[in-house]
Amino acid sequence: MSSEKILLVDDDSSLRKVLEFNLEQEGYAVMSASSGREALTLFDQQSPDVVITDIKMPGMDGIELLKEIKRRDIEALVIVITAFGTIDTAIDAMKLGAYDYITKPFNRDELKLIVRKALELHRLRSRTRLLEAELVERFSFENIIGGSARMAEVFQMVRRVAPSNVTVLIKGESGTGKELVARAIHYNSPRAKGNFIAVNCSAIPENLIESELFGHKKGAFTGAVADKVGKFELSSGGTIFLDEVADLRFELQAKLLRVLQEKEIERVGDPRPIKVDIRVIAATNKNLEAMLKNGEFREDLYHRINVVPIALPPLRERSDDIPLLVHHFKNKFNETDCRIEPEALSALKGYAWPGNVRELENVVQRSLLLRKNPDRLTVDDVPDHIRSAGTLAPEFLFHIPDEGIDLEQVERELLLYGLRKHGWNQTRAAKFLGITRQALIYRMEKYGLKSEKPGEQSEE
Ligand SMILES: Nc1ncnc2c1ncn2[C@@H]1O[C@H](COP(=O)(O)OP(=O)(O)OP(=O)(O)O)[C@@H](O)[C@H]1O
Ligand SMILES: [Mg+2]
Repeated sequence: MSSEKILLVDDDSSLRKVLEFNLEQEGYAVMSASSGREALTLFDQQSPDVVITDIKMPGMDGIELLKEIKRRDIEALVIVITAFGTIDTAIDAMKLGAYDYITKPFNRDELKLIVRKALELHRLRSRTRLLEAELVERFSFENIIGGSARMAEVFQMVRRVAPSNVTVLIKGESGTGKELVARAIHYNSPRAKGNFIAVNCSAIPENLIESELFGHKKGAFTGAVADKVGKFELSSGGTIFLDEVADLRFELQAKLLRVLQEKEIERVGDPRPIKVDIRVIAATNKNLEAMLKNGEFREDLYHRINVVPIALPPLRERSDDIPLLVHHFKNKFNETDCRIEPEALSALKGYAWPGNVRELENVVQRSLLLRKNPDRLTVDDVPDHIRSAGTLAPEFLFHIPDEGIDLEQVERELLLYGLRKHGWNQTRAAKFLGITRQALIYRMEKYGLKSEKPGEQSEE
């Protein structure tokens, strides 16, 4: 094991020598500096695990040095040495983020103990970070994070379909990672070196979409001043990602079907067919099956693109993944050193996330940016509407998972929701739930529901 590095800063060379000797005896690698400036250079080059600095030094003093170090690394562990009778300076240093202080004169054991404690904290922090990183790594695939069983199934599907040319239809609510999954399939396929071209079928104006997809010949219509290569041609040899495919106009659906069948396109205004070597991945957040019934989506096209469906679960159905995602985003926004407090995590876990992972990502980014403490994110940094969402968000009430539900569990949750909403006032909760107060009391007993407010049982 490599020994731990300590940076020792003191302008008094004899005291420095003594301390150096004592610390080396403990097995630490000690580097020393005789001024604040010299110390900063060493700090940048060597990244020591702990810094011990005298406060009173000519030029840059210990307080200035402490500020500079904390500016570089908010988690740096700095122990300051203060002279007897200068407790105010020690307090200032602690306020600025010093780990601890030691007052001159001190004995060897005192010093050793403080250093050992600081290094323990250092090791603990590195270990936590390592574990976080390992977890994120273990439960991710190409930047897609997910440790839940539902996501493991998604990863398996991605791995299985990537090597082939099969058409994939990715379904999922907004922000569940459809594009991320499409990219993962492309970059794990033999077409990875080709283009990945994403086309948002709902964002392109109606009159332009045909020429966007298929290209056009110069002069084909007013404004077509030069030949244009369409997205299908651009993605030849690679993958075309048809996002929001449900929003494609009915006539265009027929044209798309033709491309999928014939593997050739025609530019607008040019009847010569052009061969394209494409792989299609489509995505939608709409219910295509319902659109089939209403005649809004062509059945033949549906069967052509729905060869392998991949359904992405909404975030509220995999809330156990939220801590992993939060750590992932924290690192993505270069805030590796910021600690996320457990209360903040559980507030984030309790929310229903109608905008799914995208919403979570935005909230994490915003909360980190506006947080009150540089070294940690607390529950106070979480936006109000998320914190106050409570244990059961109304959206959840109407969402019935495919696997089915446990009616008793749902009843219990609803009772709790009503009771909490009305501060455990039985009359109002009963009215809210549409039952008599007697019926509510009966059910509270059945499910063992008691007021969570201290010293309060019922309103009798
Ligand atoms: N499982 C995940 N792990 C990490 N990041 C994710 C995950 N799912 C989504 N994201 C992130 O959330 C954001 C939205 O993802 P993406 O654009 O893939 O969603 P989408 O389903 O295509 O949404 P929309 O329907 O709104 O277009 C992106 O920034 C993406 O990186
Ligand atoms: Mg998308």
